Amino acid sequence: MKITVLTLFPEILRGFFESSIMARAVKAGRIEYELVNIRDYATDRHRKCDDEIFGGGAGMLMLPGPLGRALDAHGARTARTVFVTPSGRLFNQAYAADLAREERLVVVCGRYEGVDQRIIDEYVDDEISIGDYVLSSGEVAALVLVDAVYRLIPGVISGESLAEESFSGHGLLEYPQYTRPAVYGTIKVPEVLLSGHHANIAAWRLKAQIRKTLAYRPELFASAGLPDEVRRLLKEIVTEGGIDEPYPEDSGSAD
Ligand code: ADE
Repeated sequence: MKITVLTLFPEILRGFFESSIMARAVKAGRIEYELVNIRDYATDRHRKCDDEIFGGGAGMLMLPGPLGRALDAHGARTARTVFVTPSGRLFNQAYAADLAREERLVVVCGRYEGVDQRIIDEYVDDEISIGDYVLSSGEVAALVLVDAVYRLIPGVISGESLAEESFSGHGLLEYPQYTRPAVYGTIKVPEVLLSGHHANIAAWRLKAQIRKTLAYRPELFASAGLPDEVRRLLKEIVTEGGIDEPYPEDSGSAD
């Protein structure tokens, strides 16, 4: 995949692309990237990239001229082009997987109050929000988006790691994990994890996943397609704990 990020602050992103797993993926030729400074496409003496908003309102908007020229110069019309904004569609794992299938991804970072609507109408395929909060810049949101996407590209990280993490598999949160020492201070690793008994370990992990999901993200149980085994264990846990079952109206199996 080729990733192009258009920004007024390429230095915010550079460290990410030059470090760790991303640097390895670039070196291995799985990812190609370019960081485009929108200001390089400003034509006036002051390299102006923003102006006041027609009709009034606080703050400034990014000018369509420099951004449009930057988008044209980097092939945005023939690539999947996304704009990160708090007023976009909410990003999630399925959305990341969809973007990971693209050959070319162009990400536009907004600053100030955003960008002129004509740029969105003309070039942008998706407006994407990474969550219901407002960041001071699109660069941080773009990094979140790119990170979630590029690691799903085949060969970037192992398929095994991907299969086991949260939002894959059963769509539950990941189970708690432990490493050495087996006793840390006075706290012991759960005995079953040291037993070498694979079936018991898998059963413990699934139950732990359900407990964690129940505590932090009970709404995830509302999704269709939960395996019967998960529904059975969920019932067992809520009965044992005297907890109200989440979404009891959805307790039928989907398969
Ligand atoms: N820019 C500022 N806040 C944002 C958010 N929540 N998602 C995407 N882009 C943003």
